[in-house]
Amino acid sequence: MTKQETYKSILPQIGSLVAGETDMIAKMANVAAVLHEAFGFWWTGFYRVEGQQLVLGPFQGPIACTRIPYGKGVCGTAWQHAETVIVPNVHKFAGHIACSSASNSEIVVPLISDKQVIAVLDIDSTDFGTFDEVDKCYLEQISQLIL
Ligand code: SME
Repeated sequence: MTKQETYKSILPQIGSLVAGETDMIAKMANVAAVLHEAFGFWWTGFYRVEGQQLVLGPFQGPIACTRIPYGKGVCGTAWQHAETVIVPNVHKFAGHIACSSASNSEIVVPLISDKQVIAVLDIDSTDFGTFDEVDKCYLEQISQLIL
């Protein structure tokens, strides 16, 4: 299956998982689980905006840093610019926060509600160059389903 086909197959599943659920943390937890299982990523999870920091939310994978300041790391950068950030090689990203030395590429998608970033979806891969415009397109759609 291509990754496009995988995204297409999980979209309805995610749609029904979030339908009727109002608690954002519960939705984040199931979305992280679906993505993580479908693709076998290294780390899949959410950070929520709390004041001037991102705080660790529901995730799948190894333990991670609990707090990330505004504008720091890939997550803080995606928050600051309110835009998805794709990093093909995290070792070349100035300021990358290495929660795990096994991670080699990463994508961070902001969740935007009323023009405010309220959380980010962060996915790490042990391969280089895992993420591209296809991931960006589908993960942005999936992220909006959580709001
Ligand atoms: N690498 C991220 C930190 C979070 S972990 O990857 C789970 C960053 O640079 O913001």
